Amino acid sequence: MGRRPPRRPWAQKPEGHLRAAAAHPWVYPPQRDTWLLTDLLRPLCPGARVLDLGTGTGALAVIAALAGATATAVDISPLAVATARCNAALHRVPLRVRRGDLTAPVTGEQFDVVVSNPPYVPAATDELPGRGRLRAFDGGRDGRALLDRVLDSAPTVLSPGGTLLVVHSGLCGVDESLDRLRRIGLTAEVAAQCHHPFGPELTRRAAMLEARGVLAPGDRTEHLVVLRATARAATPAPAPQVPSVT
Ligand SMILES: C[S@@+](CC[C@H](N)C(=O)[O-])C[C@H]1O[C@@H](n2cnc3c(N)ncnc32)[C@H](O)[C@@H]1O
Repeated sequence: MGRRPPRRPWAQKPEGHLRAAAAHPWVYPPQRDTWLLTDLLRPLCPGARVLDLGTGTGALAVIAALAGATATAVDISPLAVATARCNAALHRVPLRVRRGDLTAPVTGEQFDVVVSNPPYVPAATDELPGRGRLRAFDGGRDGRALLDRVLDSAPTVLSPGGTLLVVHSGLCGVDESLDRLRRIGLTAEVAAQCHHPFGPELTRRAAMLEARGVLAPGDRTEHLVVLRATARAATPAPAPQVPSVT
């Protein structure tokens, strides 16, 4: 008997061993940007507290949990939260899933690793969608509305020496992100990148981006980058002063 072809998005990607609950069309299916993060994420996971901001289907948080992390996933979309819970159950991993605005549901907590694939696609306006499929894509006119908030939150949610991994498009400005992270006291570098043809969402926006001068005429190649930023390690307590005996 022939094997049935895989029907679910996770089964068709490099993470072929992972199955996934069928996602609602408003929930972002894991794709290139998701998978660009996973190779960098996995080695950091054993024994680590991992926070996935904007979890979607929960793919990154589930991968972290499978790799030995204590994982927490946050998303603003109730459909994403439900999907992430299904996927954690499907993979039999414990996953704490919270609904809310970025770090709000984990206020006061610290994590060894924060991973995020935020909505970063430059949009027609700065108004962010309150619901629907585009909430996973739109990042305001410059694509940075959510991205900058994720970067700025790093010092409060990272434990000393902790690592932030965040993916975004080169269209948003890679140097701007690196400068921003360094200004708030983290070390920052490009840890991975790739180029690939525009997907449907950027193709729909190409004329608008060309008109704004963000995209060179005819260019239909997207540059994806993963930034890795590290919080300062805790400074050791000063050695007790020994009174000098003269
Ligand atoms: C590009 S998708 C990434 C999904 C998943 N992490 C992945 O890599 O496949 C961005 C996710 O961020 C969520 N999101 C958008 N605005 C948010 C906010 N203010 N707080 C938390 N999550 C948000 C969206 O609902 C969406 O699931």
